[in-house]
Amino acid sequence: VNDPRDIVALKRDGLAIPEAELREFVLAYAKREVRDEVAAAFLMAAYIRGLDASETLAMTKAMVDSGRTVALGGISRPKVDKHSTGGVADSVTLVFAPLAASLGLAVAKLSGRGLGHTGGTLDKLEAIPGLRTDLTSEEVEAQVERVGCAVAAQSPDLVPADGAMYALRDATATVSSVPLIAASVMSKKLAMETDLILLDVKAGSGAFMKTPEQARTLAAACMELARGWGRRARAAVTDMSQPLGEAVGNALDVAEAVELLGGGRRGRLRELTVLFAAEAMASLEGIDRAEGSKRAERAIDDGSALEAFARMVEAQGGDPSVTGDPWKVLPKAPVVLPIEAGESGFVTAMEAEEIGRASVDLGAGRLRKGDPVDPAAGIVFEPKIGDEIETGQKLGEVHGRDEDAARAAAWRVIAAVTLSDRPVDPPPLVHGWLGTDEER
Ligand code: URA
Repeated sequence: VNDPRDIVALKRDGLAIPEAELREFVLAYAKREVRDEVAAAFLMAAYIRGLDASETLAMTKAMVDSGRTVALGGISRPKVDKHSTGGVADSVTLVFAPLAASLGLAVAKLSGRGLGHTGGTLDKLEAIPGLRTDLTSEEVEAQVERVGCAVAAQSPDLVPADGAMYALRDATATVSSVPLIAASVMSKKLAMETDLILLDVKAGSGAFMKTPEQARTLAAACMELARGWGRRARAAVTDMSQPLGEAVGNALDVAEAVELLGGGRRGRLRELTVLFAAEAMASLEGIDRAEGSKRAERAIDDGSALEAFARMVEAQGGDPSVTGDPWKVLPKAPVVLPIEAGESGFVTAMEAEEIGRASVDLGAGRLRKGDPVDPAAGIVFEPKIGDEIETGQKLGEVHGRDEDAARAAAWRVIAAVTLSDRPVDPPPLVHGWLGTDEER
């Protein structure tokens, strides 16, 4: 890059950046030859001005080319990748990867860390002592062949440009942009050469896209990138107007996923994960969706999904006994405070982003780039929209390092919930699907 400020100036002024120059800028930033403050200014300009389809494609391509791609050629099982655009209590990946592996599919996936108010699969998995996510492309391939699934981080080897930009976006309020999210998500998916990409595009108060229409625009941008690459992809626009599961943290999410994988939990997190597993079986193997759902339910209830999780954890250096008694292995917070309802009524709405932020402020996420997270910190919140709650009812727990922080978080959670004296229907779990092949 001659002078990277010229790229920033083009975008600042609302002009298109030529493909070759955008590529050079992204590749140089991945090598740390462009300074953070210049890249941050570029991200803000792109956030405000937008990127057109050819800029988004050029940026995504440069991000993929900043590292190596994983061909997965030696794997005979049908290969699927799955990614969420980010939510609160969204542990679908923790459940989906082993579930799909137990159903005979291969899951190879690059995940992210916590971003803004949303949780990150890598931070959650790393709450398991010893577990590594910095796998090389060879390690990913070997592990997927051996145990059926692997969840890895961006690294100097794998999409390093996304690793660098993702952390900078998190630190500079430049996350919730359609082209920046599409490039980030799809660069990680295009670097893994699977047969199918499944996207969970979140919509609602806990998502970056606050309405189903905005989420559909993001889904369409991702499908466009997949199509441009000749890759098969399907995206579901799903509800994030409330936390999906109950755990909003890291170790807490692992414990919830273990319980769910062991058949001990019902609810929307299980329902959505089963739906994605059925979609993968339908798209890759032509299995009827209802039959696929049945097989997925069975794999959860007979323990085979949990076994696959133990194998994945062990393969990545973590303690597999987390699947027996999670709290013997997972770090625990020194303070656990109940969240109690101050009033009674029907839950009609939730500020899910605020619940996510309360968890970040407890230490479960980052305030500054590169900060460590507190794996034990977070929130458990049980009510869902449509539920009736009573004054004094225990609604969940705050896990924190001290009483004051925990009490403040409990207040924020209560304030994020709207109660009414009339019941409402729960929001639909799935708003719709988009695909590279067809729309439905
Ligand atoms: N997930 C990602 O990988 N990137 C984003 O930008 C948002 C969610």
